[in-house]
Amino acid sequence: MWGTATAAYQIEGAVAEDGRTPSIWDTFSHHSGRVVNGDTGDVACDHYHRYEEDLDLLADLGVTAYRFSIAWPRIHPDVTGPANEAGLDFYKRLIAGLHERNITPLPTMYHWDLPQSLEDKGGWATRETSFRFADYAATVLERLEGIEKWTTFNEPWTSAWLGYAYGHHAPGREDIGAAAAATHHLLLAHGLGVEAARSLVPEVEIGLTLNLGVLRSGTNEQVDLDATWRGDGNQNRIWLDPLFRGSYPEDMVKLYEAHPPGFSVVQEGDLATISSPIDFLGVNFYGPGTIMGEGRELEARMAGYNVGPRPEAPPVNHLAGLGVETPGRPKTAMEWEIDATALRELLVRIKDEYTTIPLYITENGAAFNDYVAVDGKVRDPQRIQYLDEHLEACLGAIDDGVNLQGYFIWSLLDNFEWGFGYSRRFGIVWIDYDTGRRIPKSTFHWYSGVIANNALPPLDEAIAATR
Ligand code: FCB
Repeated sequence: MWGTATAAYQIEGAVAEDGRTPSIWDTFSHHSGRVVNGDTGDVACDHYHRYEEDLDLLADLGVTAYRFSIAWPRIHPDVTGPANEAGLDFYKRLIAGLHERNITPLPTMYHWDLPQSLEDKGGWATRETSFRFADYAATVLERLEGIEKWTTFNEPWTSAWLGYAYGHHAPGREDIGAAAAATHHLLLAHGLGVEAARSLVPEVEIGLTLNLGVLRSGTNEQVDLDATWRGDGNQNRIWLDPLFRGSYPEDMVKLYEAHPPGFSVVQEGDLATISSPIDFLGVNFYGPGTIMGEGRELEARMAGYNVGPRPEAPPVNHLAGLGVETPGRPKTAMEWEIDATALRELLVRIKDEYTTIPLYITENGAAFNDYVAVDGKVRDPQRIQYLDEHLEACLGAIDDGVNLQGYFIWSLLDNFEWGFGYSRRFGIVWIDYDTGRRIPKSTFHWYSGVIANNALPPLDEAIAATR
């Protein structure tokens, strides 16, 4: 499966149309002062109105699948009230448009846009939110037809830790105990979503997407090795253990005892729900991290890799390189280290330690400082190189026996990059935010060839073709 990925709040705009109510990202982008340039998703790529054009781009690209997310506040604007038909209709049109073009839709139920009214009642730090999610999941499972594969959550780590512990993302809270509770409630909500799918639409496959990583110790000193293991706990084990082994890692539970409520929110039966078997696992991967040095910056912010105090403007990016960098290693415009060997290592670890169900790379990509040249073209050879290296790593992982079934570039379009607003461009299509005009970058043309041939061209030829 070859695809590209997007998310509702990052591209749709039309935040007050057809009955949509505010999400935590509307509130955060308008009022926190923590988004670069004060950018908001009010208009974004205007995909809500221009989706036909975007579907045509997907068809030109030749993808076999498209990953997008559904905005909860469009479907259940009042949370408990009836479903909003106008909101459902937008996604029905999108799904029909994908089918017309022979593209498999891969919808995600939750890509961070919690209805603000639920945050006002405690958000993911409260158990009730998991059950409201289950209601919403039931609605989309039953009402949006023609879906073979559903994903419950995108990156629950980011929702819980950037949103509730470090304040970089909506809702902007800084409470470690609440973040640990949110970790559990997000996982519980996922499990309830899986159970809803099994009972309502048993023919569909269901999974979730995690942002897993590779955390390396920069030295062999015990103190660094221990910190690396703790960081790994928060980044990887705290998600994979409950999902695939039905238990939280003991060291993590103990660590968060000092931060109530932490994992004291876990109730009997929850772990059985969370570990309900899933059909596939989505993995988002951008780059590795290194743990080393004074203070270890709280295990590199518990493996989001971000260091330093919470940024006002501009925000510290959540995967920034650490205090000590690997000499000579290149970085993206996010300051994220590029090292595709970590992707292969990660995929093999998942297979060896957790599961052999099908894996999908649901996001992989890079931001670079793209620009439109005088001839109107956007040449992005660094992105081609980044993707080529990561696809080679995927091939390596397949050689190692990993059950990898698909790959999705983040992202189809330049879009609202959360705390970075529009200042970072991940798209393979350039967006002119003043006019909404779309310009496919060199990577778009390259990827189209990769898909058509189901193979990578020699990298030097691919780079030369961008000149
Ligand atoms: C991931 C998010 C996605 C995008 C990329 C760059 O963490 O899932 O929405 O912001 O990072």
